[in-house]
Amino acid sequence: MLESGALLNQIFIDPTRSVGDISRDIFGGFTEHLGRCIYGGIYEPTSPFADEKGLRTDVMQALRRLQVPLIRYPGGNFVSGYRWMDGVGPKAERPARVDMAWNAIDTNHFGTNEFIDFCRKLNTEPYMVVNCGDGDMREARDWVEYCNGTQDTALVRLRRQHGYEAPHQVKYWGIGNEVDGHWQIGYKTPDEYSRAYLEFAKVMKWIDPSIKLIASAASNWAGGTVVERTQLLMEQASKFIDYLSIHWYVGNPKNNFNDYMALSELIEERLAASEGLIRALSLQQGIRPIPIAVDEWNVWYRTHPENTNDINGLEETYNLEDALMVAIQLNSFIRHANSVKMANIAQLVNAIAPIFTSPEGLVLQTIFYPFEVYSQTCGTTALDVFWKGETFNSSNYGDVRVLDVSATLDERRNRLMVYVVNRSQSDAMETTISLGSGCHAELVQAYVVNGPNIKAENTFANPDQVGVSEAKCQTEKQSTFNYTFEPHSVTALSFAF
Ligand code: AHR
Repeated sequence: MLESGALLNQIFIDPTRSVGDISRDIFGGFTEHLGRCIYGGIYEPTSPFADEKGLRTDVMQALRRLQVPLIRYPGGNFVSGYRWMDGVGPKAERPARVDMAWNAIDTNHFGTNEFIDFCRKLNTEPYMVVNCGDGDMREARDWVEYCNGTQDTALVRLRRQHGYEAPHQVKYWGIGNEVDGHWQIGYKTPDEYSRAYLEFAKVMKWIDPSIKLIASAASNWAGGTVVERTQLLMEQASKFIDYLSIHWYVGNPKNNFNDYMALSELIEERLAASEGLIRALSLQQGIRPIPIAVDEWNVWYRTHPENTNDINGLEETYNLEDALMVAIQLNSFIRHANSVKMANIAQLVNAIAPIFTSPEGLVLQTIFYPFEVYSQTCGTTALDVFWKGETFNSSNYGDVRVLDVSATLDERRNRLMVYVVNRSQSDAMETTISLGSGCHAELVQAYVVNGPNIKAENTFANPDQVGVSEAKCQTEKQSTFNYTFEPHSVTALSFAF
């Protein structure tokens, strides 16, 4: 039943109904030795934009706008064949190696210390992943000691000799990447991985008990081992697991907009299933549920090996529908704030990334804008939103609501944010937003990400097809608002109490 005067689309938000605290780490990033992500992306000593360390200042300037609190590195599939020792010390002496993950040669001119320099310049935390593919626990534990050690040991002396007196204090460490996929160097069965995880984790934590460890739980969703893998990991190693990692990529390979937009439901299913599984296993062990890290997520299909032989360094050109999909994923992290405590957009530069470089400059891809708006405005508490209204039909999930919504509160700044994706290609969505619990607020500002049509892209020739526009609203303090969401748009509404 519609209340009198209310529009067909309705969003209900009760600012007192919290879903959970939002971890800033859901706005994390990821950079891998892959294509032009590192070399020719963040690191290009010959570029006119390079600083004294060879880092591209134009790229760092764009990255600062995204305010990523942590960056995962060095892979990805790459890490499963990586020797971190190859990437430290004088560059002229570093060995070039074959990278079997991406069929490339790595000069190792960029390694641990270059990555730490990059993170410090961005004021972001490094998140290292150790090789649990063809690497061993000794190598992993040595890397922790090299980075974080403070005692007078050979590895700490080596770091100092390389110019880094103070420890890097790397807090986040992943053990392995996508070990559940046969595409991975050193694929592991659930049993092999949980055994390896426990032994790696033990020695890494013995070197530095303050580190946080991330276990690789699910990336091969159709592979049939997600449940067993998570169960074995938790049964054998839960006291050494600070986060359980899951990965996904979504896309539109059949060029069906409705089916693409309906993937919000797949994301919900994956998050709900992971939460349920972890909850059940935690209950069995009498422990608090382990948080989820979605430490690779994004749109990736045009350059995916499943769809093409020419992966081209994963240089995906994004369009407006992809920007909507990125916002949909961010909405899901906010709605699941109680369990998702880290998420890392994969990746940051050139390879499936919001920032695309050439030797002469860079372009901000369409997906840059929703990420920027959410990261810069997101509150500290996720709110329980309820919404209903018009639907669209999809072949994969039937009827799905046209709007996709999340809301956050920042009590210290007296600010409520409402994030809405309008998935209609053609129709503006007139919507009533009602605040519960006798709450009155003023609608102050709207940020709208949009472009001429769902296929609009930002390219060097045409860099501003999709962008963000800001509008001051300034209403009276009230509890009900009517707002019209533009077709194919992402809108962030800022309310003040
Ligand atoms: O981000 C690209 C690749 O996607 C990563 O290397 C791997 O972890 C995943 O399959």
